Amino acid sequence: MYQAPRGTQDILPEEARYWRFVEEQARRWALRFGYGEIRTPTFEETSVFSRGVGAGTDIVEKEMYTFKDKGGDELTLRPEATAAVMRAYLEHGLHNRPQPARLYSLASIFRYDRPQAGRYREFHQFNVEAIGELDPLLDAEVVRLLWQFLAGLQLSGLSVQLNSIGCPQCRPGFLAELVRAYEQHLAAVCPDCQRRIRVNPMRMLDCKNAQCQPAIEAAPRTMDSLCSECAEHFQRVRTYLEAVEVPYQLNHRLVRGLDYYTKTVFEVWPAVAGSQASLGGGGRYDGLAEQLEGKPTPAVGFAAGLERIILNLKSQNLPVPALPGVEVFLAPLGEAARVAAFRLADDLRVRGVPSVTGAGERSLRAQLRHADTFGARWAFILGDAELATGEVTVRNLATSEQVREPRDRAVERVLEAREGRA
Ligand code: HAM
Repeated sequence: MYQAPRGTQDILPEEARYWRFVEEQARRWALRFGYGEIRTPTFEETSVFSRGVGAGTDIVEKEMYTFKDKGGDELTLRPEATAAVMRAYLEHGLHNRPQPARLYSLASIFRYDRPQAGRYREFHQFNVEAIGELDPLLDAEVVRLLWQFLAGLQLSGLSVQLNSIGCPQCRPGFLAELVRAYEQHLAAVCPDCQRRIRVNPMRMLDCKNAQCQPAIEAAPRTMDSLCSECAEHFQRVRTYLEAVEVPYQLNHRLVRGLDYYTKTVFEVWPAVAGSQASLGGGGRYDGLAEQLEGKPTPAVGFAAGLERIILNLKSQNLPVPALPGVEVFLAPLGEAARVAAFRLADDLRVRGVPSVTGAGERSLRAQLRHADTFGARWAFILGDAELATGEVTVRNLATSEQVREPRDRAVERVLEAREGRA
C-alpha cells in the first residue's frame, strides 16, 4: 500500500482543529502588530536560497529539494521563507513604501532532514519579517510577537534565548579568536567540528556532541567582541524587551543555522529542551538583501514551527476549540425520501445549519449510528409516511425524543434551538 513520503504527514479532519486554532492565533497576533500577509511561491530559483541562506549551511549543503524543471530551470522547494520574502520585497520595490515593510506568512517548508519526533521533511512555519529599518525596537517587536503568540496558546515553561553575533565589522575578529581557541582542542573535538573550523566555525558553538563541550565552555563569547554599534544595538533590544516584560535568557552559545544573521539572534525553547526542540527562532539579517543583489536593507524576523507547537499543545493537554460540527443528519428511507432529504438538507445549509444527508442504502439504525459519529444534535427521518404528509420526524439525538411535524416547522425548531430561543 502507498504511504505518505517519509517525513511528511497527512492531517486528518480530527486533527484540523489544532491547525485552525494555531493558524488563527498566528494571524490574529500578526494583524494586531500591524503585519500584512505575503504569500510567495512554493519554489524559487535555487540561488535565492543558496546565496541567501549560505553555501556552508546544513540547509544548502544537505537539505534542499532541488530539481531541474522541464525547461531546464534550477528550482528549489523553499527550505525557509525569509530569502523568498526578501526576494519578493526587492522584486516589487517594497522599499518605496513606508518602512519597515511588516510581513507575515503561513507556509509549508521543505528540508531533507532525518525525520524524528518534531522534525519533518515537509513542515509549516508562521514566518514574520520586518524589512527596511535598523531600529532595535523592531528586534524586540518580533520577539514580543513570537512570545505573545506562544503565550496566547497558553503554552507554559517556555524560555526566550537571546544572543548577539555581531556584524561584518566585528565578527571576523571574533571568528579569528574562536578558531585560535579551538586549535588547542582540535584533536578532542568531533569530526564535524574539525570540518566546521574551516567552513563555518561559528557553528562549533552549538555542537551537541559530548566530546565538544569542554571546547565550547572554553570558547570566547560573541558578546565580548561586539563593536560599539552592535553592543549599543543589543543593549537597546534588551531595554525594549524588559519594557514589555519578555523574560529572556542570554545564551552565548546561540548562533543559529543560517548564515544571514547579524546582531540579534533568538530562539524560543520549550520546557524540555532538546536539540530539535526550538519552537521558533530568528534574528536580524542586515546583509541578506545584498546577497540577493539588492541595495543594503536591514531586516529582522522569525519563524515558528507549527508541528512542534501542536505537539506541545498536546503534551501540555491544552484546550483547543472544537470546529463547528454537523448539526442535522438527514436519514432518508427509500429513493423518493432521498430526493426530499437532499432538498431539505439544502434548505438547512442555506439557512446556516451544517447538515449531512445519509448516503448509500442503509437501515435507519445504521444511519442514526452514523449521525452519532458526527456528534449531530438532530436527526431528520424521512420515510414513506413522512413523505405522504409533507412532514419529517425530528429526533433529538441527546434525549432520543421524537416528534413528527411539517418540514418548515422542523427547520424552525432547529433554528430556535441554535439561537437559544427554545
Ligand atoms: P529555523 O530556525 O531554521 O529558522 O526554523 C524556524 C522554526 O521552524 C524552528 O524553530 C522549528 O520550530 C521549525 N522547524 C525547523 N526545522 C524543522 C523540521 N525539520 N521539522 C519541523 N519543524 C522545523 C528559519 O527558518 C528562519 N527563516 C527564521 C527567520 C525568519 N529568521 C529571520 N526571519
